[in-house]
Amino acid sequence: MRQKILFEGAGQLEYEIRNIVKKAEKLQDIGQPIYWENIGDPIQKHARIPSWIKEIITGLVNDDATYGYCHSKGVLETRKFLAERTNKKGGAQITENDILFFNGLGDAISKLYQFLHSSSRIIGPSPAYATHSSAEAAHANAAPLTYRLNPENKWYPDLEHLHNQIKYNPNIIGILVINPDNPTGMVYPLETLQKMVRMARDYQLIMVSDEIYNNITYHQTRSYALAEVIEDVPGIALSGISKELPWPGARCGWMEFYNRQADKDFSDLCTALEDVKMTEVCATTLPQKSIPLIMSDSRYNDYRKRLNREIGIRGKRIANILAKLPYIHFNETYGAFFNTIVFKSGVLNSKQTLAIGNPAVDQLLSEWIQPEIALDKRFAYYLLAATGVCVVPLSSFHSDLLGFRVTLLEEDPELLVCIFEKIRDSIEEYCGSA
Ligand SMILES: Cc1ncc(COP(=O)(O)O)c(C=O)c1O
Repeated sequence: MRQKILFEGAGQLEYEIRNIVKKAEKLQDIGQPIYWENIGDPIQKHARIPSWIKEIITGLVNDDATYGYCHSKGVLETRKFLAERTNKKGGAQITENDILFFNGLGDAISKLYQFLHSSSRIIGPSPAYATHSSAEAAHANAAPLTYRLNPENKWYPDLEHLHNQIKYNPNIIGILVINPDNPTGMVYPLETLQKMVRMARDYQLIMVSDEIYNNITYHQTRSYALAEVIEDVPGIALSGISKELPWPGARCGWMEFYNRQADKDFSDLCTALEDVKMTEVCATTLPQKSIPLIMSDSRYNDYRKRLNREIGIRGKRIANILAKLPYIHFNETYGAFFNTIVFKSGVLNSKQTLAIGNPAVDQLLSEWIQPEIALDKRFAYYLLAATGVCVVPLSSFHSDLLGFRVTLLEEDPELLVCIFEKIRDSIEEYCGSA
């Protein structure tokens, strides 16, 4: 090529959640059954969509209007419905004009970072969810900026670490929270959110809150939405239906802009995001039209409550199997449907192994285990090869900690126990092997 053709930040893009799938698929090709613990797709883990939701969607499929483009910001009635829902929380007040639809929240997230000035940074939690951290890092062509979530304090954010970074790095223009959090399952306490908003006000930052799991909490926990705590600070809440309905294949997510008029730069960012959506015409129409119909149905709240209760029960079952292992820090989860398990310091080394019965699998594994491989990735590959359980190593969440993420999604109770007993037995065998 006569010029460089690749965007310089492209090297920052990393998504181990799907990378490990390529390895698992190779094992599948040679007959190994795989237990997919790598991705938060409830449908893949046997979730059943109730017939009343399917009837609503069938009704929409039979309506020719759903085959057309919609308004570039999104379907008007849906935006009105969502604005009213947010306003009822009693915090930030918005109109339908403060809502902007995208083709999945992942699309919204990548647009958000793409339209930030390249020297302006948003600091987010570590362990970092790659859809945010990779897109943010790519826009700046630099490593992600993160504040620590502390596994020894229920994964709550280390506010002093956050504050110090904000204080000494004037390029930070925003704070990201993922609440409830992926990958830790932590729910930000109200007081923590209030302190973060105060920091944002003091240093003239924006708040960004990924609330895709906002209605997925359990064990009597509730997650506070940004709208409830933001007061006069500019902010963006990010939401979607992939996890809540759940309908990840719909590719439907949205942004809500709070206090847009409070700051000219922030208002210009919101306008740029609207303009880019206009150049793409609009997001997918049908899933948007389903939102008010499904969420205002009298069956919806009970349905979601039941699913949340079941996630909580699965969380307890997993805790019963893993929590007492001496090699790990195990935190109970309160929201979303992931748990991140951390190996205690010094537990892992590069001599540990698991018995692999199949020579073809052994051959593949030896190709994957390169000398410089992160120790938790090494464990994850051994686990995959020995048992077929596919987890995501924690070092791929831009973290210094070593561990792995699992989901709380397996709906078949016997299979859930079988998967987590395999994980438990493998940790014991691997950590005891050298
Ligand atoms: C915290 C978080 N934000 C955003 C997304 C992306 O959601 P979507 O399927 O709407 O693109 C996910 C998906 O796992 C997520 O966990």
